[in-house]
Amino acid sequence: MYTCQLPGLITVNARGGGAGPFRNRQGRPGTWAHGSFLVIDRGSPKDPSIPTGPVCLLTGATSGIGEIVAARLATGGARILLVGRSAERGARTIERIHSAVPGADLRFYLSDLSRMAEVRRLAIEVRASSDHLDVLINNAGAIFFTRTLTAEGHEATFALNVLAPFLLTELLLDRLEPHHGRVVNVSSAAHRTARLRLEDLDRVQGYSAWGAYGQSKLALLMLTFEAARRHADRGVTFNACHPGFIQSRFGDAGETFSARAFRVAKGMFGRSPEHGADTPTYVAASPELAGITGRYFVQSRPHGSSRVSRDRASADRLWETCLERTAEYRGPLP
Ligand SMILES: NC(=O)c1ccc[n+]([C@@H]2O[C@H](COP(=O)([O-])OP(=O)(O)OC[C@H]3O[C@@H](n4cnc5c(N)ncnc54)[C@H](OP(=O)(O)O)[C@@H]3O)[C@@H](O)[C@H]2O)c1
Repeated sequence: MYTCQLPGLITVNARGGGAGPFRNRQGRPGTWAHGSFLVIDRGSPKDPSIPTGPVCLLTGATSGIGEIVAARLATGGARILLVGRSAERGARTIERIHSAVPGADLRFYLSDLSRMAEVRRLAIEVRASSDHLDVLINNAGAIFFTRTLTAEGHEATFALNVLAPFLLTELLLDRLEPHHGRVVNVSSAAHRTARLRLEDLDRVQGYSAWGAYGQSKLALLMLTFEAARRHADRGVTFNACHPGFIQSRFGDAGETFSARAFRVAKGMFGRSPEHGADTPTYVAASPELAGITGRYFVQSRPHGSSRVSRDRASADRLWETCLERTAEYRGPLP
């Protein structure tokens, strides 16, 4: 049921769906549903608290796409560190995943990622409880139908969708496994029509929800490509993806005309969160993508991104701006 691809790796390739039992090298039973899973054999440690599967940190795990990704990776034998901003939703998510994947190895971390102080606190907590990470999936994201400033003074879309994944990745980079660690950033096809206002990233001039959201997903894509260049020597891969147009809770807050119109379109044309989870799960876990970095994926395939997303001079300036805007939170970590 499994094939050995690389030394120390067991791959369970279940792309295309189906369901069936497998046993990994530790004889641990599991089942798979959709997607491809990668199970890392760390031998048979005596201390049962040492994880034997890969360790995946996933933001936005309490809803929609993130919850399904968490369940699928847990099915593959991974320990999942779920991040959410509500303890109650976290507990409910864990209950649902446990009932679908009995014995799933889950831990919940509370963090409002729109606040960089909380991103830093999260990184400290994760570092204290896990000496390594195999996969970091920056999935949390939102659209804000009215312009909102965070308590730290950043425009909320930019803070949550751009600064948070940037800061979290930088704070955890040295914990990502140097030979196979993966960072997956959940971007969006909305980046295609977006403009990056490098002089006005907080969208003070003429705010529009879709303008700010598209810019944030474009910025996240550019930062993914830039991370792949800047951190090329680390052996960690950095990729981004578009999950599809998905019926999740995305866009549910807001009573503007645009918010209502979006919800109607989502109800008519949106696909299931299960479909939305396919590409992020594939990019996070497929053995086919070992060593592949700096790419954008749609429908589990490499895909071209907009011309501006590949503009290296702008990406460089954006990176420097993100460094400046998170400087206060990037000090030495325990
Ligand atoms: N749905 C689509 O059509 C679509 C298309 C392209 C890209 N995407 C992207 O896919 C990702 C997942 O979205 P989804 O569709 O699954 O939407 P969703 O159901 O709204 O889930 C978003 C997740 O992000 C979390 N989150 C929101 N604000 C947060 C904050 N301040 N701090 C911490 N966590 C926060 C939410 O937590 P709560 O449970 O507490 O709200 C939730 O777990 C997002 O990055 C989104 O931009 C979605």
